[in-house]
Amino acid sequence: MNQNNVKIRLMQTGDFDAVVAIDEKILQTSHSGYYSMKFEKLFKSKDYLPASLVAEQEDGTVVGFVMGEIFMGEYGIYQEEATLVTIGVDPDYRQKGIGKQLINEFMDHLRTLGVKKMYTLVGLEDAKLMHFFSANQFVPSKTINLERSI
Ligand SMILES: CC(C)(COP(=O)(O)OP(=O)(O)OC[C@H]1O[C@@H](n2cnc3c(N)ncnc32)[C@H](O)[C@@H]1OP(=O)(O)O)[C@@H](O)C(=O)NCCC(=O)NCCS
Repeated sequence: MNQNNVKIRLMQTGDFDAVVAIDEKILQTSHSGYYSMKFEKLFKSKDYLPASLVAEQEDGTVVGFVMGEIFMGEYGIYQEEATLVTIGVDPDYRQKGIGKQLINEFMDHLRTLGVKKMYTLVGLEDAKLMHFFSANQFVPSKTINLERSI
């Protein structure tokens, strides 16, 4: 426990509904299909190490999550790079350090797995999220995403 009375633990398949509900509260639309695909990939495929975490209150309510991907590849040898796929804190529980706690424990967890670098994608127009990542020691990567309309 910490000053927020929130503990961070590994995400389990049973957290699906809570994750979808938090995402929906944030984005005002349901992405259950997307999370269904992600949960299938991250929990059922042997190619990925468990790297997703949830923030849970004392009463068991999940109030935040971070989803990560660590690809193991052939022969169970994982790579030294991981991806932070998405992070979300229930809007009613923000500004209490839960996001920071999720990132810090996510980093600690990845470090123990041998990961050396974490990547994430943020929309350039998403100033709040850019600010959050920057406050948590993320810096612009040396690669840039390119796109072309078809
Ligand atoms: C980005 C996000 C994860 C941050 O979560 P959070 O729990 O509010 O993050 P933190 O509390 O660690 O930090 C946020 C701010 O609260 C401040 N804070 C931290 N602890 C605090 C405390 N005890 N009291 C007051 N403020 C505090 C931090 O300093 C920070 O302030 P700043 O923005 O001025 O730097 C959250 O806003 C979010 O989920 N955003 C939406 C992300 C999204 O779109 N995801 C995709 C869909 S799931």
